Amino acid sequence: MNFKDKLSKDKLPKHIAIIMDGNGRWAKGLGKLRIFGHQSGVGAVREAMEGAVDVGVKYLTLYAFSSENWNRPKLEVKALMELLVNTLAKETKTFMANGIRLNTIGDLSALPKHCQKTLQDAIAETQHNSNCVLTLALSYGSRAELVDATKAIVRKIQEGLLQLEDLNEQTISEHLYTANIPDPDLLIRTGGEQRISNYLLYQMAYTELYFLDKMWPEFNREDLFQAIYQYQQRERRFGKTSEQL
Ligand code: IPE
Ligand code: IPE
Ligand code: MG
Repeated sequence: MNFKDKLSKDKLPKHIAIIMDGNGRWAKGLGKLRIFGHQSGVGAVREAMEGAVDVGVKYLTLYAFSSENWNRPKLEVKALMELLVNTLAKETKTFMANGIRLNTIGDLSALPKHCQKTLQDAIAETQHNSNCVLTLALSYGSRAELVDATKAIVRKIQEGLLQLEDLNEQTISEHLYTANIPDPDLLIRTGGEQRISNYLLYQMAYTELYFLDKMWPEFNREDLFQAIYQYQQRERRFGKTSEQL
């Protein structure tokens, strides 16, 4: 089935968030090392990016490394960091060709220095692109993000820059790492698990969730189009009744 042609242009999700899961299991299934799965996942990242730009999705946020992923074996963590650096160096061309602006969320200070540098360079190089904002969630945890936001807000109150009475939902949104990004309309998780794994908890209050069994290295743009198509079949009521919409 060709899902791209079936998409309604006026109901596109503005922001798609993805949990790229299943690399390790996919590789193990082939009798290979987990890191082979991560390396193979890069092709799926390209598919998702190009597919998003192709249909006009303005924000794509990819969960690349969670704050909990630091607890994995040292060797796997090291390999993932190296993969990040090498991929960014290679894919900057893809970013430029597709008008993609790179952005990050998470505790970047925990990353090795050379990773931080590569990220900063890629962000600077792509800063004027305007087709799509690609946000990499790196060393990202949603609870840590909420703690940081809370600290920043309390500090402002203590310094008299914000009145307690003026604190509202918008204030919290504006102090998250995702301050300049609209909430995700659609979350896609590959790899068969149906959980959120500490990803964008506040931002996903009304996000449509889409889970697929496919492992991340096998994900392609047709899967992305199918997910968008399924999303377009849903009725987002935001608490109202069907008749009110
Ligand atoms: C997702 O794949 C990538 C990262 C978390 C970095 P996994 O590495 O979690 O793969 P599985 O879930 O173990 O198969
Ligand atoms: C979530 O996958 C994080 C990323 C995809 C980067 P995990 O594989 O770490 O999630 P859990 O541990 O199965 O929930
Ligand atoms: Mg996993």
